[in-house]
Amino acid sequence: MYINIKLKSVSTNWLCGAVAMAISVTVVPMAIAGPYDFGSTPTAEEIAAIDIDVMPDGRGLPSGSGGHAAGKEVYAAKCMACHGADFAGVAGTGGAALLGGRGSLDSGKPKKTVESYWPYASTVFDYVKRAMPFNAPGSLSDDEIYSVVAYLLGEANIIDKTATLDAKSLPEVEMPNQDGFISDPRPDVFNYD
Ligand code: HEC
Repeated sequence: MYINIKLKSVSTNWLCGAVAMAISVTVVPMAIAGPYDFGSTPTAEEIAAIDIDVMPDGRGLPSGSGGHAAGKEVYAAKCMACHGADFAGVAGTGGAALLGGRGSLDSGKPKKTVESYWPYASTVFDYVKRAMPFNAPGSLSDDEIYSVVAYLLGEANIIDKTATLDAKSLPEVEMPNQDGFISDPRPDVFNYD
């Protein structure tokens, strides 16, 4: 408001420039100092709702558990339409192939899937929880996610079909391509090991 009045009162161009410079000098430090008059402090619940990352060593995994049989039902109801009964992905949906391709990575035609490529089982949990089902991300319960991960890994013969996955057992799963990655040696990059 103060600035507008000042600008209207100046009559020559050079004075206008001087006022503009004065404005930029005054406005910038004010902007740095803050606070800004918008936004609000997030509540603990709001932070918890997006604080869902799961690390390879299992940090961040929620309580709950699930196994193959329950996961089969979750998959049929909420995943199969896009990822297919054969886990190869359904054309036209964008749903990726989830299983298969094991041993193909160093061939001329690498087929990257959860089974062949992903180094950590924890990432499957993390990804499904944050991004799937593609049309309703965030809608699955933690038990449903543990179950569908157990189903996928069981169908891939990575874990036993009788296994139950939870925060303790899931990080112990060894993925086929676990050793197929090298750590990034740059010091400013977070390494998992
Ligand atoms: C409406 C279609 C749809 C449904 C339903 C769906 N997905 Fe997906 N899914 C996708 C698409 C599209 C992608 C690729 C997303 C991308 O690349 O950004 C994807 C990617 C994935 C990936 C990553 C694959 C990779 O190698 O990159 C996983 C794992 C996955 N989905 C699991 C699931 C599970 C588990 C369910 C059921 C709970 C599910 N999806 C339901 C469409 C779907």
